[in-house]
Amino acid sequence: MTDSLTLQYDPACLDVHLIGGGSEALALAQRIAGLMPGVTVHATSMMPALASLCRDREWQSRDADPVPAAGQLWLVASGDGECDRHLASVARQADVPVFVPSHPALCSVRLPPRVTVQDVAEPAGGHWQRGHVSLVGAGPGDPELLTLKALKQLQRADVVVHDRLVSQEILALANPEAKRFYVGKARSRHSVPQEGINQALVDWARAGNRVVRLKGGDPFIFGRGGEELEALVAANVDFDVVPGITAAAGCAAYAGIPLTHRDHAQSVRFVTGHLKNGSCDLDWPALTRGGQTLVFYMGLGALDLIRERLVQHGMDAATPLALIEQGTTANQRVHLGTLTQLPGSLADHQPRPPTLIVVGSVVELASRLEWFQPSASGSLGWVEGKHPTPLSQADSA
Ligand SMILES: C[S@@+](CC[C@H](N)C(=O)[O-])C[C@H]1O[C@@H](n2cnc3c(N)ncnc32)[C@H](O)[C@@H]1O
Repeated sequence: MTDSLTLQYDPACLDVHLIGGGSEALALAQRIAGLMPGVTVHATSMMPALASLCRDREWQSRDADPVPAAGQLWLVASGDGECDRHLASVARQADVPVFVPSHPALCSVRLPPRVTVQDVAEPAGGHWQRGHVSLVGAGPGDPELLTLKALKQLQRADVVVHDRLVSQEILALANPEAKRFYVGKARSRHSVPQEGINQALVDWARAGNRVVRLKGGDPFIFGRGGEELEALVAANVDFDVVPGITAAAGCAAYAGIPLTHRDHAQSVRFVTGHLKNGSCDLDWPALTRGGQTLVFYMGLGALDLIRERLVQHGMDAATPLALIEQGTTANQRVHLGTLTQLPGSLADHQPRPPTLIVVGSVVELASRLEWFQPSASGSLGWVEGKHPTPLSQADSA
C-alpha cells in the first residue's frame, strides 16, 4: 500500500461499492460522503443512520455482493473479519482496487484524506497535543446532539474510551483507525473498576496517544468526570473538557417538557436516584418545596421509594410525573402519570434503563408540546449486548 496508489484514482470517476450495513460501514460512508458522488451500498440489512445517509446522498443500495468489473473501487466493511478477507481477495484477484479499514494489510489503495471539522476551523486553543485526554460529553443518544467540538475530538482521537450510554452511531463517527475500549457501567455491574479506568487513561496518554474519554450526556453531571480528571491532575496529564447535552435537557426537550416555565417552575434540580450505599437518602423536605422541577437520574430502581417519600414529605399526590425511557432515540417512550397514579402504559411495558424521572407541574405541558416522533429518528439508540468488549480485551476500531 503506497500513497502513489491513491493518486492513480480520481474518486469522482470511480464506480464505488461499499460493502456492509453496520457501524463500520457507516463510519466509512461518513468518511467518503462528499468525496465520492456515486456509491452503491451492498448490505442485507442496514443501520437506520446508514440508510438515511444513502437516502440523503441518493446512493444506490443492493442486497447482493458486487460483481467485480473494471473501473470499480471496493470499500469493504462487512463487520466480519472472515468475510472482509474473502471480499478483499475476490477484488484483488479481479484487479479491482480495494480498501478495508479494519485490515490495512488487505488494502490495495489508500483513501484521500477526509475533510474534517478541524480542516474547516481550528478554534482558539490551538492544536491538540499528543499525550492528552479530552473528556467529552456525547449527549443523551441522538447523534445529531453531539457538539461540533466533540465531533472534532472524536475524529482526531487515537484511542476512544467509552461508556454504555454512547450509541453505536456516535462511535461510528470516531476516527476509524482509533482503538476503542468499552468500560461501561450498568447499575451495580461495573465492567472495569473506576480506578482501572483512571489508570488506563493515564497510561494511554503517557504512551503519547490523543485519548477521548467519551461519556453519555455531560461528563460532569453524574458522570464521574471530576474523579477521572483528579486522577489526570495527580499524574500530571494534560486534559480538556467538552461538555455535552445532559439527559435532563435532551430528554425533556424531546418529550415536550420545558424544565422551567414562568407559570410552573422557577428552578430545576438534578437529583441522583442511586446513592453510594444503595439507598435513596435525600433531602426530602427540600425536594418537596413548590415552584421547582425535579429530575431524577438513575432513579428507575427506586421509583416507588421516590414517589412514596415525596408524598410523605408533603408533595401533592396529584403532582404530574413522567418517565422518559431511552430519550432522544428511535426507542424513546414517554410515560405520563402522577405521583400516586403511575402511568397506565407501565401495565403493558416495563421501562428499561436508561430512564429519567421528571416530577413537577411542567409535565402537564407534555401532552400539548410533544413533537418528537421516535420511529422517524435516524438514531438507533442502544442495542442490548452491543458493547461487550471490556478494557482488558480491547479491540481496534
Ligand atoms: C450515570 S447517569 C449519566 C448521566 C449523564 N452523564 C448525563 O449527563 O446525562 C445515567 C442516567 O442518566 C439518565 N439517562 C441518560 N441518558 C438517558 C436517555 N437517553 N434517556 C433517559 N435517561 C437517560 C438515566 O437516568 C440513567 O440512569
